[in-house]
Amino acid sequence: MTEETPRSGLRAPIAQMFAVGAVASALGIGLGLLIDWWPKQGSTQSKDIDTLYDVLIIVTVPIFVMVTVIVLFSCLTFRMRPGEEELDGPPTHGNTRLEVIWTTIPALMLVIMCSYAYVVLTDIEDAKAGEIRVNVTGQQFTWKFEYPATEKGGKPVTSAELYLPKDKPVRFYVESLDVIHDFWVPQFRMKVDAVPGITTKYRITPERSGKYPVVCAELCGPGHSFMRQSAHVVSPAAFAAWKKKQTMPNRATGGDAETIDAKSLFASSGCNGCHTLADAQASGTTGPDLDKVLPGQSAAEIKASIAMPAAKVTAGFPNVMPTDYATRLSPEELDALVKYLTEVAGK
Ligand code: CUA
Repeated sequence: MTEETPRSGLRAPIAQMFAVGAVASALGIGLGLLIDWWPKQGSTQSKDIDTLYDVLIIVTVPIFVMVTVIVLFSCLTFRMRPGEEELDGPPTHGNTRLEVIWTTIPALMLVIMCSYAYVVLTDIEDAKAGEIRVNVTGQQFTWKFEYPATEKGGKPVTSAELYLPKDKPVRFYVESLDVIHDFWVPQFRMKVDAVPGITTKYRITPERSGKYPVVCAELCGPGHSFMRQSAHVVSPAAFAAWKKKQTMPNRATGGDAETIDAKSLFASSGCNGCHTLADAQASGTTGPDLDKVLPGQSAAEIKASIAMPAAKVTAGFPNVMPTDYATRLSPEELDALVKYLTEVAGK
């Protein structure tokens, strides 16, 4: 051991510490900016949000690095050496200037970053001319999208798939019929909870055509991970055509069991979230495997199991199937679904 206490030789280690910190920060920021954290931008809002994210990386990575380096440096420099077991450290009396600095700088940074985030969010949430409205309803374990009638006497369009015209601003009115869900299309970047009893909202303007996942981002029950549907961003003309087709009497309203596409109904009603059915490429395991339990059952039995699931629960499975399919589906849809299940289950 030399005569020196560890403290007197600190100048060089502190310089070293700063050098290590600077290099690590630069590497961390570079890496943070290089990594593709998010899928491709799909809305005009995504750019501002991604820039906000990048700025947060640039500001927060050096803070993380600084704290880590100081902790490691202190452990190395001030650690107990052999023979010092009985020694007490030098008395400290605080350092007012240091305390003022380490309180003021983070406080300022917080205020600046929060202000910036607030400005970005209010910009994005600005009302836009010609907005279309889409009502989004979450329910275990499916999403429903409703397009209110735009002209007098028109009928609202409901769909299990989200269709949006490209470059047209849209505002979502989000609700839940049971528990808390969260309506998220990662490509649009915005995301909001669907809370029973209140309507939450957000705006986006889709700017890239394509098919994107609609994801539930709030743990909402055994079928949560299957609460996924699709958002289709299409040309305004294709959107108008799609919407027109939805009002034609081939679906829920007035369609007969023959013309209803029961396989997509199986998915859009959320059945695939909990059940396995090879024909529909469904592999849920929360509820009974339909390929195993349905063969041998009559149409009436299957219908009863959908309409009143709690009346007969398969042993070994939780009694969690929604009990409102009889009202969620039209009688024709229910019949089409039952017919489909009798035809494909176990095949
Ligand atoms: Cu709905 Cu998770």
